[in-house]
Parts: sequence; C-alpha cells; structure tokens
Amino acid sequence: MNILVLGGGGREHALAWAIKQNPKCDRLIVAPGNAGIAAMAETADIDITNPGVVAGFCEENAVDFVVIGPEAPLVAGVADRLRDGGVLCFGPSADAARLEGSKAFTKEICDAAGAPTAAWARFTDAAAALAHVEKAGLPLVIKADGLAAGKGVIIPETPEAAQEAIGAMFSGAFGAAGAEVVIEEFMQGEEASFFVLVDGETCLPIGTAQDHKRAGEGDTGPNTGGMGAYSPAPVLTDAIQAQVMEKIIRPTMAEMARRGMPYQGVLYAGLMIEGGRARLVEYNVRFGDPEAQVLMMRLGAQALDLMLACAAGRLAEAPAPSWADDHALSVVMAARGYPGPYEKGSIIAGLDALPEDSTRMLFHAGTARVGGAVVAAGGRVLNATARGASLTEARDRAYGLVDAVDWPEGFCRRDIGWRALG
Ligand code: AMP
Ligand code: GLY
Repeated sequence: MNILVLGGGGREHALAWAIKQNPKCDRLIVAPGNAGIAAMAETADIDITNPGVVAGFCEENAVDFVVIGPEAPLVAGVADRLRDGGVLCFGPSADAARLEGSKAFTKEICDAAGAPTAAWARFTDAAAALAHVEKAGLPLVIKADGLAAGKGVIIPETPEAAQEAIGAMFSGAFGAAGAEVVIEEFMQGEEASFFVLVDGETCLPIGTAQDHKRAGEGDTGPNTGGMGAYSPAPVLTDAIQAQVMEKIIRPTMAEMARRGMPYQGVLYAGLMIEGGRARLVEYNVRFGDPEAQVLMMRLGAQALDLMLACAAGRLAEAPAPSWADDHALSVVMAARGYPGPYEKGSIIAGLDALPEDSTRMLFHAGTARVGGAVVAAGGRVLNATARGASLTEARDRAYGLVDAVDWPEGFCRRDIGWRALG
C-alpha cells in the first residue's frame, strides 16, 4: 500500500522507520520530512495543515493510508477531510483533538467521566483569576487554555510571578490560546507517559515512557520539548496501568463517544503518580516526541498493523503488541542555546559511518541537506535511539551513537534514564 506520514521531526522519522519494515508498505512518502527521512523515503514539501492540500496530494499519489504525526494538522481538521474523502487515516477528528487543543475542554470531559485530575477553575478575565490565586494560595499551575507550543504552562514560585503570568496570558502573550486561562492545583509525584490506541471504542495500551523535559542534567534549567526518553517506565507498574485504564482512559473515551466525538488514533496520557495513585496531567492527541522514538524502536514493523487496525475500527481483533522483553532509550541532540536562541546551518559530520541496525538508529529531527552536507535546521536536531536487553545496554548503545556524531555545535544531556537507572 501507499502510505503518507505527515510531519518532519524525530517522531516522524521513527514512525517512517517502523512502517517501512512492514511488507505491507510499498511506497512511503513523508511530508515535509527532513534530511534523515529523505535518505529512506520520498519526501514532499506541502502545507500539511491545509486539509484540501493534503486531500489533493493523496488523490494525486493514490495514497491508501495516512499517519498524522503532529497536533497542528489534527486540530486543523486534516483527518476529518481525509476520512470524508474515503482515505484511511490514523488520527482523531478536529473535535476529538480538542483533548489537546483546549485544557478546559479536557477538564470538563474528565469531570463528566469521574477521571482523577488536579482540581481546577477557568477564567476569562484577569481580575477573577488573580482573586482565585490570592484565595487558593501557591503552589498552583497557570495554563493558557489553547495550544501554545508547549510554553503555555507556568508554575509560579511567588505571587508576583503568578500575577505576571496571568497578566501576560490575558494581554495576548500566547495569542488566542490565552483568551481563557485554567488554574490548577499543583500535583506532587512522578510524571510518566502512557500510550493507548483507541478506535472509537476499543482501547489498547501500547507502551509506557518517561520524558526528560528540562534542558539540563539532573532535571535543571528551562523546559524543552523533551531532551530524551526511555521505555518502559517502571513507575507505571502493571497495577497502575490497569488503574489508569479503568479510571481514566476508558471513562474519558466513553464520554467522548457519548458526546458524539469518538476518539480515533493514539492517545498520549501524561500522568502524575504518587502513593500508588495516578492522576491525569494532560492528554495529547499524538505520539510524544521523543517518546515515539523509543516506542517505535520497541514495536518495529507491527506498529503499522496496529495503526491500520486502529484506523479501520478493528482494534478489538488486533493482537496485543508483542515485544521482546527489552528496553529502549533515546538521547536528543540539540543546537547549543536551545530552548533559547540558537544558530542554524552548522554542519553535522560522521553520519556516513554510524553503526545503525535494528537495535540502534540515529533519527533526524531538525536537519536539512545543503549541497552534500547535512546541517542543523532546528532546535532539537538528532535523536540517538537504541534498544537493549537492559536499560543500561540501551543507554550505552544510544550514547555510542551520540559519540560517533561529529557536531561541535550540538549538546545533549548525559543522564537520560537516571530515574530508572538509579
Ligand atoms: P501540560 O502542557 O499540561 O502537560 O503541562 C506541562 C508540564 O507542566 C507537565 O508535564 C507537568 O510537568 C507540569 N504540570 C502541568 N500541570 C500540572 C499540575 N496540575 N501539577 C503539577 N505539574 C503540572
Ligand atoms: N515530549 C513531550 C511531547 O511530545 O509533548
């Protein structure tokens, strides 16, 4: 079959890598892709957030199946348009994508479903929000309601910082995303990510992971899109996974179906675990990045069969994912300065002699090819990803890839996996 993957980050390189291993895949196109993807699939430079453009591209190229990587095309309604046109597509409708697109919407769904989350309140004006902060007292979490590229969540340390955050959100610092503000109870605990395929009705867990959001070692420094991940996450024990399915995932998915917006695609639950109890921090309507890299490393070719079954509404018949009892770990190599200002265009060398195989891959994120060279073209640039019989083995293989890359303008955290490795 002809398969189109939308996106151009490390997540999409990992998705493409797994899909290509499956004999069902005849032709693989990734739009827009990056330099690493271009070395293993066709790429196409189209506006992936324009539903008409994507639908037209699918028709011209006889695309049978579309996998949508990032949230923006989902929120823009690309999946709706493709399904209306009869194209099989992995990813939720624009209505269902509000689970990521609006924090207040998600909170409402959780309340209606009785799913445990942080206590919350919503505000459309600064005075009421400030009065709430004064009454409730810190610690609190202040969130712009809409999509703010991961920057719309502030955990103020002082009342002045809370005032500043609320002022900034209501004066447009996050654009339309900040027109409404959600203020939540601050939850203590350990965070982990849980991934579930949902076909509108059936919910199939496909793995756990833990991200490293801070730029610096020991979880210090500014927040980023994620500096590394590993899977599985031991904090999500079988018992806690069962609890999450029963109390959070199934009830919220049933509530979505009840409201006439059944969810189809991968559901990424960010969880806070404390004292054997899990609460939902947030939902995302896509695979995480870099969490997808470790999940795809472990799932391999069966990822395509699972996504096809999900898109076709046949998850109930799909075999549960099987994997060797192994571990995967991914280290993000970023441009110096990230997540602040950074330079683009530095040359990345050493890529031709990498020891890549089915247990280790250097996935590309923000890279481009200029002439004969691969250059950095974004903040997060490469993802050294490996699996092994133990997490230590996976980590050593991943850092082996990092050390084989010759890119003085890049940096990475050296402590990915520390929580699980002790
Ligand atoms: P979100 O975009 O909602 O995932 O928030 C980004 C990050 O902020 C999360 O991954 C958590 O680390 C943190 N966070 C969000 N909400 C809360 C909360 N209610 N309590 C504690 N930490 C939170
Ligand atoms: N790594 C966090 C995310 O994809 O949202």
